Amino acid sequence: MTAVGIDAIEIWTGKLKLDLAETFAPEKGEDPEKYTKGLGLHASSFPDAHEDIVTMGANAAKRLMDRKGLTPDDIGRIDVATESAFDNSKPVSTYIAGCLEQVYDGDFHHANKGERKFACIAGTQSLDDAYNWIKAGRNRGRSALVVATDTALYARGDPGEATQGAGAVAMLISEDPSLVELSTDQGYGSADETDFLKPNQQFPSVDGKRSMQVYLARMREALEDYESVAGASHPDDFAYIPFHTPFPGMVRKAGLLGYRHMIRNTTVEEELAEEIGLQPREEDYEDREAYEEAIRDHMDDLKSTAEYREWYGEVIEPTLSIARQVGNWYTGSVHIARASALKSAAEAGLDLADKRLLVGSYGSGAQAEIHAETVQDGWKDEIEQLNVDDQIDSRYDLSFEEYENVHDRHNHDKTIEMEDFTVPEEEFVFTGRGRMNERLYDYVA
Ligand code: COA
Repeated sequence: MTAVGIDAIEIWTGKLKLDLAETFAPEKGEDPEKYTKGLGLHASSFPDAHEDIVTMGANAAKRLMDRKGLTPDDIGRIDVATESAFDNSKPVSTYIAGCLEQVYDGDFHHANKGERKFACIAGTQSLDDAYNWIKAGRNRGRSALVVATDTALYARGDPGEATQGAGAVAMLISEDPSLVELSTDQGYGSADETDFLKPNQQFPSVDGKRSMQVYLARMREALEDYESVAGASHPDDFAYIPFHTPFPGMVRKAGLLGYRHMIRNTTVEEELAEEIGLQPREEDYEDREAYEEAIRDHMDDLKSTAEYREWYGEVIEPTLSIARQVGNWYTGSVHIARASALKSAAEAGLDLADKRLLVGSYGSGAQAEIHAETVQDGWKDEIEQLNVDDQIDSRYDLSFEEYENVHDRHNHDKTIEMEDFTVPEEEFVFTGRGRMNERLYDYVA
């Protein structure tokens, strides 16, 4: 059977940076360590005046097409995942195709285009759509371009303001992929939840604490569903577990929950029992409340054990390096977690071919999805092409007043003129609006 999966990946970060410890925390009168240690974030990326979800997505896609030597004829499908769309009818993928047609010979007229929406999980759903399209034999030898692009902005003063971010991830989904093969082992945890939503408004209505509980509850449900097809999972089965990362502190909780679940009834649980006891079993407690309290105490003990800390350091921590510098990219977030992990393995000289990843995606509203992937032979050559560190380092460092201007500039209800902080070069830029209020773009050579 032909392998299908991610052949190539490219990342484009918004070109501005808000330093959370140095710039944001002092203005908010908060301890910088709330951000760097508690949330696990050092900085957020923001879009410059000439950037938006279209330019960031098109710029990531162009880097990917150039690097792979692709022409529009090689692409049979363009799906954009976003929760920052500015149009209820015309999909962002048409704008991105229009941008790319400015710079390539040929066109995307025979490519199927769409837009996926389910909060942050839509990027992974778009990967699934592409996988299914290829597996169904409808791709005529062509690849799918999946672009996850977002400007994750919250209303000023909202607790979510600390976890903003902006950037795009472009992925090429192909037969015989170089990076990872997707598997059919997949599980879902999905329920009608009210944790984060944007009822025709730009900035989210969010119940942050609730969203963290829902993330964990749905992720656990997805893991159980995954195991019902793939069999019981063990912490040693996977080289890395990239999770959706709204902020690394969320993944700290998800990693612990996953580990506790995976070691239950294994020799790892038995060995740890000498130090921290066996995991509480619900049937041993009078009521749910007493059981949950015992679980919380046990988790506190578990996270301090050397075994857990070593596993977390190897399997989870490497997935967080990019997120710590750029914040939440919504639909792209789990895909930068995978890229962070592979990049760290390449830097450490590890041989990952044939190793497996377990990928945990989440979208508020709410749905979690867990699936397995197998790293392919060409992974290292592919991942070494990323220049994300250079992009992160060359962002313009905003003062707090400048940040407020940038936030206003990207507020759809305000019309704020703002000078660019960076000089566009070899990239698509937003140039204004046309007669039907459509957005206009140019390529700056
Ligand atoms: N040093 C170290 N850690 C500190 C600290 C300090 N000085 N001050 C606070 N912290 C820790 C807190 O203990 C907490 O960690 P914990 O949850 O492990 O206990 C963490 O930093 C965050 O602090 P908290 O007071 O809970 O932050 P908050 O009330 O401002 O809100 C969110 C945090 C995540 C709820 C908020 O940013 C939000 O709503 N984000 C958007 C929604 C979201 O991303 N949800 C995730 C699911 S998709």
